[in-house]
Amino acid sequence: MVALFGQLLFSLYVTLVYGGAVVTGDTERWNHVMPRGYVPGDTAGNAALMTHVLIAVLIMLGGGLQLLPAIRRRLPALHRWVGRVYMISVMLASLAGLYLTWTRGEPSRMPQHIAISLNAIIIVTCAVFAWRAARARNFSAHRQWALRTFLAAGGVFFFRLGVFLWLLINRGPVGFDPETFSGPFLTALAFGVYVFVPLTALQGYFVAQQAVGVWGPRVMAVVLVLLSFLSMGGVASVTMMLWWPAIR
Ligand code: HEM
Repeated sequence: MVALFGQLLFSLYVTLVYGGAVVTGDTERWNHVMPRGYVPGDTAGNAALMTHVLIAVLIMLGGGLQLLPAIRRRLPALHRWVGRVYMISVMLASLAGLYLTWTRGEPSRMPQHIAISLNAIIIVTCAVFAWRAARARNFSAHRQWALRTFLAAGGVFFFRLGVFLWLLINRGPVGFDPETFSGPFLTALAFGVYVFVPLTALQGYFVAQQAVGVWGPRVMAVVLVLLSFLSMGGVASVTMMLWWPAIR
């Protein structure tokens, strides 16, 4: 529920801020919220970014919809179509993201660029396996790979939650330089959310579901509750400090 609600807010922010700027023809407004949003003369880069950001809305809304058991049970055709659109969207967003990272990225943020590029590889790999398992009607494998795709594609969402929760807790930037947006905290956060933490927690959840004793599932439940509270704090921080002021 925390992820669904947070991603709904994220897509509302993207639609109003970026979509609003496209509708009014004021694409330079993108630069108020992104360091290198609209770059005059860089047609390919601007087109890649526009595609990337507009697809982001489909990803944030579609991923949540796929998780609702009632839709899977009662509207299987909708689940299949949203699934196809979602898988294609995450792959396209990852490819456009890779292009932007390696054509526009700053050398000072190299560790973050490496982490998010690994994230792109993980997203595409998980999406391919999820799709193949669905076509082979291997639904237990499909469920696992689809959940991995969802969490890997949520990496950029978790990154924003992590940055703003950290800023709120420390009452300012600690462990990174706000001018260059680089430093040890951001490097650790990037590898954590893009590569390790969500997928490791998910694997723990799969293992706990198979566990025979009572302690494995209990420990995993506590871990998931803690991660949910962290996410809740992150959603509240990023909404208060970035999304709501940008929309207003
Ligand atoms: C698949 C899920 C993804 C979603 C939903 C997503 C969403 C977004 C959104 C909404 C923005 C606009 C910035 C903002 O307002 O927060 C953005 C920017 C950007 N994204 Fe993604 N993204 C995804 C994956 C990726 C990947 C895998 C990469 C890199 C390999 C990437 C690279 C970028 C870059 C370079 C920017 C430009 C702004 C910046 O420098 O931070 N994205 N993305």
